[in-house]
Amino acid sequence: MARRAQLIPWKSAGRRSEQYASGDDVVRTTGWVFNNATGRDVTLEEFVETGDQEVPAYLDLFGLRGPHTGDQTMVEIGSGIGRMTCAFTREYGTVIASDLDAGFLERCRETVARFGKADQLRTLEVADGRTLDLPDDSVDLAFSYITLQHCDPDDALELATEAVRVTRPGGSIALNFRGRSGDDWIVLPVGSMVRAMLHLPGLGPWLARRRWATRFAWQANRLRPDEVLAQVGPDLTDVVVWRHPKGRAEGVGATTRTFDGINPAHWWLVAKVTVPGATAA
Ligand SMILES: C[S@@+](CC[C@H](N)C(=O)[O-])C[C@H]1O[C@@H](n2cnc3c(N)ncnc32)[C@H](O)[C@@H]1O
Repeated sequence: MARRAQLIPWKSAGRRSEQYASGDDVVRTTGWVFNNATGRDVTLEEFVETGDQEVPAYLDLFGLRGPHTGDQTMVEIGSGIGRMTCAFTREYGTVIASDLDAGFLERCRETVARFGKADQLRTLEVADGRTLDLPDDSVDLAFSYITLQHCDPDDALELATEAVRVTRPGGSIALNFRGRSGDDWIVLPVGSMVRAMLHLPGLGPWLARRRWATRFAWQANRLRPDEVLAQVGPDLTDVVVWRHPKGRAEGVGATTRTFDGINPAHWWLVAKVTVPGATAA
């Protein structure tokens, strides 16, 4: 089976991340695929600090912190090299960092060994880009940030379904998506063209290492809350869609809350997995 184009830039960055001697070099060469930071002065420590700030902020905002969090298990879908994973290992008893790319996961283990709690970490390769090789009801939280927007729409919806499947009844999901925005008319067609070019011998591998090309190529879907909820909504309760006050997140069909720290093009689906037999409040 030909490799699917939207997986190529990540695999390419993952292979490069394996070639460098230190995490600082990895951040300088591939860190831009995670948070856009570039430059020779960027360090792994600063990179992880951005996650250290975001993780507690999002857990508090979404009401996910509680007295039992330290005994709980969470899965991070799309962990990359561990920018947020370090902070998660300080919050949760067990953190399962999952990613499409095994090279990123190796780097994630190193990052957590330096800045997090390595004893709390497990890693999981999402080999097909859509299946979590975990038992049903095995985690308390499924979390994903800046990852589902980079998947084929079918893969993003399947990963959302997987997030719900692996989360125990009464547990939570917090999944970040990208909605439609004003520049989509140019970004989406160019992204589709660049993805097609990634299959070309010679040019494809060269493009997959270019920041400008990758930034187009990874624009693989735009999903609305109602499209995601049509897939996973029946298994959820306490559904809240979080967005920026000026964000669009059209087609909501659920309680909406706003926070100005959210990227205006993004939205979050935060919900609990329904307990069988429980009646809605
Ligand atoms: C922009 S990075 C975000 C990483 C991390 N969440 C953060 O905020 O630093 C997206 C990550 O998602 C991973 N990814 C992309 N498509 C994926 C898929 N279909 N399944 C699992 N991981 C995927 C990439 O390999 C990459 O590590």
